[in-house]
Amino acid sequence: MIDLAQLQDQIKSKLSGIENQSELENTKSFFLGKKGLITLAFKGLGTLDPSIRKEQASKLNVIKSQLIDKLNMLQQEIASKEINKNLNTEKLDITLPAKKIIKGKIHPVSQVIDELTSIFSEIGFSVAEGPDIENEYNNFTALNTPEHHPARDMHDTFYLDKDKKTLLRTHTSPVQIRTMLKQKPPIKIIVPGRTYRCDSDMTHTPMFHQLEGLYLDKNINMGDLKGCLEYFLKRFFENDKLKMRLRPSHFPFTEPSAEVDISYKIDNNKIIVGEGDRWLEVLGCGMVHPNVLKNVKIDSNKFQGYAFGVGIDRLAMLKYGITDLRSFFEGDVRWIDHYGFDSNDVPTNYRGLSK
Ligand code: PHE
Repeated sequence: MIDLAQLQDQIKSKLSGIENQSELENTKSFFLGKKGLITLAFKGLGTLDPSIRKEQASKLNVIKSQLIDKLNMLQQEIASKEINKNLNTEKLDITLPAKKIIKGKIHPVSQVIDELTSIFSEIGFSVAEGPDIENEYNNFTALNTPEHHPARDMHDTFYLDKDKKTLLRTHTSPVQIRTMLKQKPPIKIIVPGRTYRCDSDMTHTPMFHQLEGLYLDKNINMGDLKGCLEYFLKRFFENDKLKMRLRPSHFPFTEPSAEVDISYKIDNNKIIVGEGDRWLEVLGCGMVHPNVLKNVKIDSNKFQGYAFGVGIDRLAMLKYGITDLRSFFEGDVRWIDHYGFDSNDVPTNYRGLSK
């Protein structure tokens, strides 16, 4: 028969020596495992005389449950000791600078669209949009460009069907038609968007971006158009001294029509916009042709308006000194890293457009 006093002494001394998880496990199996002292003691009960068996069994039960309680307590102590040890040794300094972060950048085209939206919203324009895939009517006919008109060749159109009814829009002007069909004047919109022409070299890509402007109301004239463009160009190039001039031109959907040049000079092989005495063409514009208004059932005796169209990519090239238009659409991360903008620097009128 096992000596219970001796067993308790053994338990006491084993428990006092426990420092970590594995010592705890060893002690546990030393007493309670398959061949543990207490397990064996229970097994030995059968050989005892029935008169003492019961008392011995209940004493063993008490010892066993006390041991289990103590082991559980020790288990918790060891766990929290280990957590504290880890907290002390594994320090994470969240104020250290992060390593190897690749930051996304805003593409110059998106940047310029944001800048233009900001500039024009200040003088009451809202943003309209239309689809890239257009029908021939909105892109040409409704814009007073009938079949066989030479302007259609000029645009080198990507047609999407044999009948030449569906196409990739060659300019943002069809959104003028879409808007005027939906909305009654006054209308004051800008339309940024993708446009397509069959053309590719240093300064032309088959897909490029335009911004259309349309202002339709009573008593709008060329003077309003000039004032609007002068405000926009000065704000966009962030140069109040910028000089611009209107040159007579021709578009089927405006009458009279003009092209707009801005002054520039070359300094140290770099183009400086707004200064100097050379001229650079930047946009086409004019008064909306009465035939166009007729096509959308607006009375041209009541309402007049101006429209303009400007190449967004070209504006980006001029403002940010980018020389090859094709590089805009190659998706080279080194290029975007160099020419891109921080996503937190949203252009606003009050905080500044590009600085
Ligand atoms: N749509 C013309 C182009 O692509 C530009 C333009 C727009 C001209 C509006 C006049 C008025 O060349």
